Amino acid sequence: MKQTPQLPKGTRDFYPTDMRVQNHIFSIWRQAALKFGYEEYEGPTFEHLELYTGKSGDEIVAQLYNFTDKGGRALALRPEMTPTLARLVIQRGNELKKPFKWFSIPRLFRYERSQKGRLREFFQLNLDIIGTDSISAEADLLVAIATMLFDFGLNEKDFAIGVSSRRLLAAFLESLEVAEPNSIYPILDKRLKMPAEAFEKELLNAGLSEEKAKTLNAFMSCASIEELKNFDNLSNAIAELEELFELLKAAGVENCVKLDLSVVRGLAYYTGIVFEVFDKAKNMRAIAGGGRYDSLTETLGGQRATGVGFGMGDVVLADLLAEKNLLSQSRSDLQIFIASFNNDMKILFKTATELRKKGISCSHSLNAVKFSKQLELANAANAKCVIFADGKESKNGTWEYKILATGEQGVESLENILRRTKI
Ligand code: HAM
Repeated sequence: MKQTPQLPKGTRDFYPTDMRVQNHIFSIWRQAALKFGYEEYEGPTFEHLELYTGKSGDEIVAQLYNFTDKGGRALALRPEMTPTLARLVIQRGNELKKPFKWFSIPRLFRYERSQKGRLREFFQLNLDIIGTDSISAEADLLVAIATMLFDFGLNEKDFAIGVSSRRLLAAFLESLEVAEPNSIYPILDKRLKMPAEAFEKELLNAGLSEEKAKTLNAFMSCASIEELKNFDNLSNAIAELEELFELLKAAGVENCVKLDLSVVRGLAYYTGIVFEVFDKAKNMRAIAGGGRYDSLTETLGGQRATGVGFGMGDVVLADLLAEKNLLSQSRSDLQIFIASFNNDMKILFKTATELRKKGISCSHSLNAVKFSKQLELANAANAKCVIFADGKESKNGTWEYKILATGEQGVESLENILRRTKI
């Protein structure tokens, strides 16, 4: 027997019931971004391969969906939005008045081993601020994250934002006289995913002495800014963290955010504050991650433009919202279903045009079917009200109608019907 078409691994179909949920997520994302003054932008779904190689970090490059097009160009489906954003910034240079706050909801592609929370095609809200060194930018992004998660119905007990600082780690590694700090970050990133001995062994393999490996482990266990003060040469990085936490307190979100040195971030371009958002139980993968990247535009050959931002994926977020019962989305209502006693298609089309010109959403049967069948269709479409286009009393701007939820029937002007239906 011929095999029917299959869904590619790691991708999803969005039937209308799934699309309702997706639209709900996108709408809260978009409303929150706009509420914080971010402006929407977009880019292409594929870019030149070299935009990613050597800039984003080995892991993401290994996950690229890349191909050669018919003109022999090496291209890749975008695995993240940040390099595209950097390209947009470089292209317009000084034309763009900085600082600015932009957001986007790109569809992204990563050749990952699909598992819970990780797919090969997903969506990601990106909020980024370009052109300021101020720590207020980090604060604005973190407050936006907390606010949008509250808007979804989550509360402080459901999620936590862990904040760390690449500057702090760099200063500490410098004080330890580590020759190649960049080779240490990927090990620090995996620290909590392996036993302490394995972690120290990896550090030794990377060239650290046993003593330095132990000191680094002790440093990574610090859970508060006070504990960090026991180490020397970190005062600048600590002052920045303190300022950030004060702003978060002023905004009233301090209970959602904590210092967490285990947040290192896998991507190569981060230079300052880094952060990740997790479900409180830490049962799931990260909901969001981001940080400051002050040299990406230069790495890509453009002028220096500092940046800070984050990406929040739809997959883990939807899992968490579903777990907390925050995702039941009913179909959005159709205002009016138009029925005809005489199966008169022409009067249905004529009436529908009249109503739509008034901005009313309406639909009707596409076949000449029995009246009872038309009412069934009205219910299936979740219509609030049925009007009878060729009812005896439907004339001179009044319509025979029936409100489906209450069964109330009568003859009224359209305005009164809408009022009674509370549309
Ligand atoms: P990222 O940590 O690679 O950062 O991704 C951010 C979030 O996207 C993750 O926490 C996760 O929720 C979601 N995500 C990533 N990969 C997948 C996947 N395969 N399937 C489902 N969800 C996934 C970035 O992408 C940075 N470019 C974010 C950023 C923006 N940094 C600065 N500005």
